[in-house]
Order: sequence, then C-alpha cells, then structure tokens
Amino acid sequence: MVKSALAVVALLALVSRLQAFVSVGGSGNTHVTITGNTVMAKITEVCEAVAEAEGREFKPTGSSVEELLRACLGTTGEVSGAKFRTALNQIYMQNGIVDRDFMNSPSHHFNNEAFAEGRNLIIQGTAAIKANVRSDNLQSARETLGRVCHTLQDFYSHSNWVELGNKSPYANLIRPDLNVENIADVEMPTCSDCASGTCTNQLLPAVLNGKFLTSGYMGLFSSDKPQGKCSHGGASDLSSSQNPRGGISKDERQSHNSNQHNSAVNLASEATLELLEDIRGAIGNKDFLRLMGIARSAVLAFVIDTTGSMADDIAEAKRVAYNIIDTKKGTQDEPSEYILVPFNDPKFGPLIRTTNPDVMKSEISKLKAEGGGDIPEMCLSALQLSLTGAPSSSHIYVFTDAPPKDTHLEKTITALIRSTKSTVSFFMTPSKRRRRAVAAASTFQVYYDMALASGGQAIEVPKSSLSQATDIIVDTSTSALVTILQRSRSPGRKESFPFLLDKSMSNTTIYITGSSLTFNLHSPSGVSQSNSVVNGPLGTIHRVGNLQRIQLNGSDTGLWQIEMTTTQPYTVKVTGQSAITFIYDFVEEFKGPHPGFAVIDGRPSAGSPAKLLLTLTGEKGPEALEVHQVALVEVSGEKVSNGTVDKMADGDLLVTVKEVPGGEFVVLLKGKDKTYSSLFQRQTTTQMSLSKVTIKAVADSSMLPGEVFKLNFTVTTNGTGGAYTIRARNDKNIPMSHPSTLNVASGGSAQGTISLTPPSATLSGTDVTLTIEAEGPGGADSNYAVLRLSVLSKVTDLTPPKCSIVDVQGVCYASACSSSNWELSVNITDGNGTGIQSISIQQGSGNFTQKVAEDVVMGRYEASCCSTSVTLSAVDKVGNVGRCSYNMKSGTGPRLFTMSIPLWASLLLYVVLRDVSL
Ligand SMILES: *[C@@H]1O[C@H](CO)[C@@H](O)[C@H](O)[C@H]1NC(C)=O
Ligand SMILES: *[C@@H]1O[C@H](CO)[C@@H](O)[C@H](O)[C@H]1NC(C)=O
Ligand SMILES: *[C@@H]1O[C@H](CO)[C@@H](O)[C@H](O)[C@H]1NC(C)=O
Ligand SMILES: *[C@@H]1O[C@H](CO)[C@@H](O)[C@H](O)[C@H]1NC(C)=O
Ligand SMILES: *[C@@H]1O[C@H](CO)[C@@H](O)[C@H](O)[C@H]1NC(C)=O
Ligand SMILES: *[C@@H]1O[C@H](CO)[C@@H](O)[C@H](O)[C@H]1NC(C)=O
Ligand SMILES: *[C@@H]1O[C@H](CO)[C@@H](O)[C@H](O)[C@H]1NC(C)=O
Repeated sequence: MVKSALAVVALLALVSRLQAFVSVGGSGNTHVTITGNTVMAKITEVCEAVAEAEGREFKPTGSSVEELLRACLGTTGEVSGAKFRTALNQIYMQNGIVDRDFMNSPSHHFNNEAFAEGRNLIIQGTAAIKANVRSDNLQSARETLGRVCHTLQDFYSHSNWVELGNKSPYANLIRPDLNVENIADVEMPTCSDCASGTCTNQLLPAVLNGKFLTSGYMGLFSSDKPQGKCSHGGASDLSSSQNPRGGISKDERQSHNSNQHNSAVNLASEATLELLEDIRGAIGNKDFLRLMGIARSAVLAFVIDTTGSMADDIAEAKRVAYNIIDTKKGTQDEPSEYILVPFNDPKFGPLIRTTNPDVMKSEISKLKAEGGGDIPEMCLSALQLSLTGAPSSSHIYVFTDAPPKDTHLEKTITALIRSTKSTVSFFMTPSKRRRRAVAAASTFQVYYDMALASGGQAIEVPKSSLSQATDIIVDTSTSALVTILQRSRSPGRKESFPFLLDKSMSNTTIYITGSSLTFNLHSPSGVSQSNSVVNGPLGTIHRVGNLQRIQLNGSDTGLWQIEMTTTQPYTVKVTGQSAITFIYDFVEEFKGPHPGFAVIDGRPSAGSPAKLLLTLTGEKGPEALEVHQVALVEVSGEKVSNGTVDKMADGDLLVTVKEVPGGEFVVLLKGKDKTYSSLFQRQTTTQMSLSKVTIKAVADSSMLPGEVFKLNFTVTTNGTGGAYTIRARNDKNIPMSHPSTLNVASGGSAQGTISLTPPSATLSGTDVTLTIEAEGPGGADSNYAVLRLSVLSKVTDLTPPKCSIVDVQGVCYASACSSSNWELSVNITDGNGTGIQSISIQQGSGNFTQKVAEDVVMGRYEASCCSTSVTLSAVDKVGNVGRCSYNMKSGTGPRLFTMSIPLWASLLLYVVLRDVSL
C-alpha cells in the first residue's frame, strides 16, 4: 500500500513537469501522457495486490512496460509485450481521437458550461465499460475508457475547478448518484476582459466567492458566446476575440498560467486514478489486468465444420486442444483465452469464448459430426464470429472438408482480417464424395486467398494425415511468436529469399506450401541442406499434404537463404520465438485546436503518403532496440518501399512512405538489438493495400435495447464516380437497414445512414461489430470501415452497495505475525438497488466467507497478522461499487492478553469504524 502511494506521488511529480491536454503525437505532453502514466501506476498497484493474494513476490527487473508485464504475470521466460502494448494503444488512440471525432462537441470537452452533458458521458461510458467487461468485450471497453478519460481530464483544464481552489478531484463526475452542483447560470457573467489574451485570473470575484462552476466557451466556427462568459482561449477559439477576451483553458503551460496548468494536470491525473479504481472495484483485479492487456499471449481459436463427414477432423481438433491445454498448463505458453465456433448447414455458432480450459475441453467434446451431407456450409459466417470475438492478432484455425456456401461474406471477412490483424489458417481435408458434389459451385480457392491475405496457411491434407499437419497449431501457441519472412509466388520461379536470424530467436520454423517443391537452405556459416534430406545438418523436414515444415536445429545467427528452385506456385514463411517485435497502425494526421494522429479503420488513401505509427517492444523495452529500416514490401511481388522514420515523444515511431507499392503489402522492419549487438528482422502478416475510396463513420453513443440507432457514414472517392454499392453487416444478426447504393462523384462524397435496432432482450454489454463496405462501379475499387458498438440498457440503479464494518476480532503483533490471525465482520446491503452481484477482496491475502440474511450479506474476512490491511469491494448488478477498508494496527501489550477484543471495546471500535466505510 505504502509503495503504491509513493508510486502515485512520484507519478504526479513527473506529470506536473509536462505540458498536457493536447492529443496524440503533439509535442509529447498529452492526454495520452496523463492517461498512460496513471494507467501504469494503477496496473502496478493491482499487480502488487494480485501477487500478494497469490503469495508471491512482485519485483519488476526494470522500469519498462515489458518488465512490468513479466513481473505481473509472475513468469521468468520470454514473453512478448505486443498484446499489452496493443491494449494500451487501443486506450490511448481513442483517448486522443476525441479531439478529432468530437472536436466541436462541448460536452466531450466540458466546454460551454456543458457540465451535466459532460458528466453524463462519463457516467454512461463508465457503465458501458463495466458492462462490456462483464460480457468479455475488452476491446470495446478499452476504447470507451480512452474516450471517457479524455472528457474527465478536460474538466480540470477547461473549467474553473482549479481557480476555485479545489485541491482534490470532483468526485461527483464519476458518482452516478450525485450531480454537478452550483453551475453558473447562463445569464451570469463569469470573466473580465483580457486584452492581451494571457491574463492570470480573469474570473469575476462573484464567481469565485460564490464557488460557481463555469467553463470556457469554444468557438471553432463562430465568435458568438453568451454575454460576459469566459472563452476557452487560443488561436483556434474565435470567441476569445470577443469581450471578455482571453481564455481560461489550462491546456498548455504558459508563463501566465503555469501554476494553474500544473494543478490541472495533477487533478486530472488523480481523477483518472479514481476512475480506474472505480472500474477495478467493479470488475475485480483479474479482469482489470486483462482489460489493461496483461494476459498471456497465446489464444487458442478453432472454427470447426461439424457436418457428417467431419468426425475424424473433430477428433483431431479435440486431441490438439487437449494436448495444448494439458502440456502448457502453468507455463507462460498456456493460452489465456479459448474460442470455439462450430458451423454446419445452415446453422453456425454460437461463439464460445472462455478463459477456462475445462470449459473449452467440455465444449469441444460436445461437438458431433452430423447432417450437412453433400451441401457446403456456413464457414465464412462462423469465421466472421471468430474474427470479431477473438482478441486482435489471434491465430484462428479452421477445420473443414468443403468450400464455403456463404461466399457473399468474402469481402467482409477480408475487411475483418485487415482490421483485426488476425491470421487465419485452414485445414482442408476434402472428402471425395463431397468434392464431387461441390466442384461446380465453388472451390477451396477462397480459403487460399484468405490464408494469404491474413498471413496464415492453407493446408490441404487427406483426413488420414491431418494429425501430422496440426503441429503448426502447437507452434503458434506460444507467448512470443514472431514472423521473420513471408512470401508468395504464383507462378513459382527460381528465387532466393534471404532472412536474418538474431540472437533472441529460438524455435525457428520454416513453412513452405505448394506441390512438387524443390529448394535448398543455406546457413550463415555456409552449410546447405536440400529438400530431399529429411534429417540434415540444418534441420528436420516434416512433409504432409502440400505443407513442408522445417524445424531448424540450432540458431545460427546472421543471414540465411532459402533458394527455391521450382516453377510451381509456392508460399514461404519463417517464424520463431522472440520478445523483440513491433505493433503498428496506419494513421492519418488531423488538424484542429488539438491536432494529432488517428488510426485509419479501413485501407489508407491512395494519392497521399502512407503513414504508420510503430511501437517496438523487446525484453528490455524499446530503448534497447535500434531501427535501421522500415519498409512496405509486397508479399506476392518484389517492390520494397522504404519509409522515413521519425521518433515521437512517447517513444513511438512515425513512418512515412512516399511511394507505396501498388498491390498488397506488409510491413518489414530491420534493426539492431543493442543488448547483444545482434541484427534482427521482423515482418507483419496482414496484407494491406491503398484505396481511392474512404468511408468515415463515428458512433457517438451506445445503443439501447429495442430502440433504433442511426449511424451516419460518408463515402468519398478520388476514383471513378457513379453508383457505389453499399454493404453493411454485423456479427450479432441485429436487424439493419441502409441504402444499397450511394451516388458519389469523382472527387466528391455522399452521406448515408444505417439504422440498427437491437432486440429489446439484448443483454447489456453486448458488443456489435459493424462492417460497412462501399464498392465503386464495376467493382474497380472499394473500402470498408469497421466499428465496434455496444448495447447498453438504461441504468436506473445509481446507488452503490453499502459496506459497514460491524466487528473486529484479534490482536496482532508485528514480532510474531505468522502465528496469529485477525478477523473482520461486515454487513453489506444494496438498499433499493439491483442487488449484490459479487464481493471480492481487492487487496489483502486473507479469506472471505459470507452468509446472506434477507437483504443483508454478512461477510467475514479472516487473515494472518502478516497481512494487516484489507479492502473489500461489493458490486451490484450494474457495476456500482461500495467498499470497506480496514487496517489492523499492531498491538503493544503482552501476548497473554491477545485472545480477542472484549465486547465493550468492539462496540467502541464499531462506532469509530463506521466512518471508514464508503
Ligand atoms: C522450443 O524449443 C525448446 C528447446 O529447443 C523446446 O523445449 C520447446 O518445446 C520448443 N517450443 C515449442 C513451442 O516448440
Ligand atoms: C532501403 O533502405 C535500405 C536500408 O537502409 C537500403 O539498403 C536500401 O537500398 C533502400 N532501398 C531503396 C529502394 O531505397
Ligand atoms: C484524394 O486526393 C487528395 C489530394 O490528392 C488527398 O488529399 C485525399 O486524401 C484523397 N482522398 C482519397 C479518398 O483518396
Ligand atoms: C445524420 O445526418 C442527418 C442528415 O444530414 C442529420 O440531420 C443528423 O443530425 C445526422 N445524425 C447524426 C447523429 O449526426
Ligand atoms: C448485520 O446484519 C445482521 C443480519 O441482518 C443483523 O442481525 C445485524 O444487526 C447487522 N449488524 C449491524 C451492526 O448492522
Ligand atoms: C427506496 O426508493 C424509494 C422510492 O424510489 C425512496 O423514496 C427511498 O428513499 C429509497 N430508499 C433507500 C434506502 O434508498
Ligand atoms: C484461508 O483458507 C485456506 C484454505 O482453506 C487455509 O489454508 C488458510 O489457513 C486460511 N487462512 C486464514 C487466514 O484463515
């Protein structure tokens, strides 16, 4: 406890030296810095509490994000920080993007005295986060968290809370049961005129003396504001030129407001910590860490055809799943999540998603091969569910013996693959009977295309040899998988593919697919091995169906070569395990009062340079890595386009590529691991390409069950004008309507509206992935947008449960703590509310037991005297949190009298302690 308190103090000291409240990528002192520092402080505190409860030490080996991750997971082995970094980026990007998507919305920034509306965004957003986590929709929860933090932080910069002399955050902003009070009336003048634009205190004495809350007016497009009101201030605020001139924004530190700016940053940081603490109380320590991306990397995701001929394949999928679950249990390679989606004809789903290996075992055991017969089935529908349900960058394996029937989903799947960066691999075991029946309808080519687009494998094997091919699933089920190289050639040709192996690599595996393959492998030390040598000096070759899997014996570092000597089509892929990797997003710059970068949720625009934000990660953090080259490379061609690399203030890299390859490309990164002075190379797997079409859509709230939700979207093109075909799909089968075409002129744009109506029985917290596609005349060009929307019921229970301490027993001595225990009794009630959903130990390593008596939960916490402090959190069904904290003081008397506190003392204590409960 003491340690975390210190961490927070240190953090606040750090933050206050920075400028703040501008968005991502600004001069480096941003909303993202405030959010990032507070998120890391809270994660550290929760990691400590979890380690204490599990009776292990928590000692990061250094200050990097990666070292925090390892210490928090309690593992010493190689762990990739990519998932953690990705989760943090999902929060940070949405945190910054509020300045673009809601630039002119007063409530998102607490401008224009929109206090009730701003608070409402925070309360609704926080309820959505809690409901999303309860339904395991972590990405939606992260994105909402990022936006809510922005609004919460802006309160301290844009209102006069600081000027009113407040030294702590305004609790009412995150308390559903309290409202914002004493807001200055719309008629009430609040500021005096400031001709210079930079005055230290413009607020009128009447405002300060009456403790009235006000905020600056922001005029992006007009200088109008109510008479006598303060402005936000700054060059982009037109209202600041109108009397009273100037502004009260504390966004940036300037000479006239540096103290106020520092106070605003500190209060915004503290307020963010309180919000995180509230969310943590509602979802518990374990889920809080998962929300923050602290989880083992591996995810096991299967999509399985359950039609009549699939019995052997299902048995094999089950064998592999059991094998991975049983052999990796307790290691860093144990999957943190399991996904299973069965499909048949015409049924598919449901999506089964669990963190419990026993549930996965039981679900996969329940699968039975039946029905379907000769007709192909709903493979792509099932794949859609797995792509939207699995965390991003998952490896998804599809087992089937027939081509898909639902080929209309092909473009949607491609969009989802690009958006999630997940890889999809197919095990195709064509049965003769079915192959004949479907030959005319469609072919397996769809699967080959999707595997290539996602960086996965398409493996065609007889049913009898499937078990020899599934080793690739075990290969990817690790905590630190990286791709070194992936290329595809059709038609094949003689070509040599160089690739660098570095010191950090282990378990390097080469996969080559195609028929009649001939190749030679050359190591940096000049040793060679041909494809005909199964057990050679360089590795062991396993051959099954169209797949050759080569496990390298050692890890000779330096430049390797695969020399392909075949004219048949082939793919080459080199993977291994290493903590050195990077994550990336294509981004676009946005202007406005707070400029920054936003992730593009479709294909980047043709005609302007492509920009990417890269985050490096390695065992010792990005500081231990040096970047030499970042390029966009064609997987199926030869073009390599180098980018220029700029270092951003937060350590991320901004890469600008002027001449982007015309076809599908991936990202290649080369650099040096400074720790070992070893050169490395990494490549991404998801193929991307440019488009002249863009689709923009912004959802500004969650959906209500049973009510129509309208979403505007805009299609813009620099390509051919004409009728653009619009397709929209969602993964939850929610009824939707939208225009089937939009007329877009070349160089112009058009707007359409999608209406979604979630059924009234939709569970609160459900997230819906909506994919919108626009395709130009003749199918020449297209683009897509992917949005995650949440369904949230109206929250009417606003009061948190009440936890009161009713008794404390025991006396503790620090000198002999392990030989004695103490206990705490509490009564927990939820008044008129939705009722207690759960009670958990937030901090403390004791045991909690409970009895329910009518409306009261009577709880007893029992702990060793070595663990003297406890925080219990009680959560109601909508996520309101009530807490009890207690700190057992060490006694001073002789051990003789330590039996228990006499009755009169415990009653006295009860009176004293009532104030402790929240
Ligand atoms: C990686 O290699 C090590 C030793 O070479 C081995 O023990 C381990 O099982 C391998 N991991 C995988 C996933 O193959
Ligand atoms: C790209 O950069 C690499 C490394 O700096 C360099 O070797 C290569 O020649 C460059 N390629 C082009 C086309 O400029
Ligand atoms: C259209 O072209 C302009 C200028 O070349 C560019 O700024 C814009 O991003 C392009 N838009 C699309 C949708 O490609
Ligand atoms: C959607 O567009 C229509 C027509 O332009 C507009 O009236 C409406 O306010 C827009 N809705 C939202 C939520 O922006
Ligand atoms: C705690 O709850 C129990 C059961 O309702 C009740 O009998 C008891 O009086 C309560 N204690 C206090 C101090 O409120
Ligand atoms: C319960 O609800 C009623 C009516 O909504 C209200 O008057 C009463 O104060 C509430 N009681 C508690 C303990 O919240
Ligand atoms: C908590 O429960 C565990 C298992 O039942 C037991 O071993 C331990 O002694 C208990 N701790 C305390 C402080 O009662």
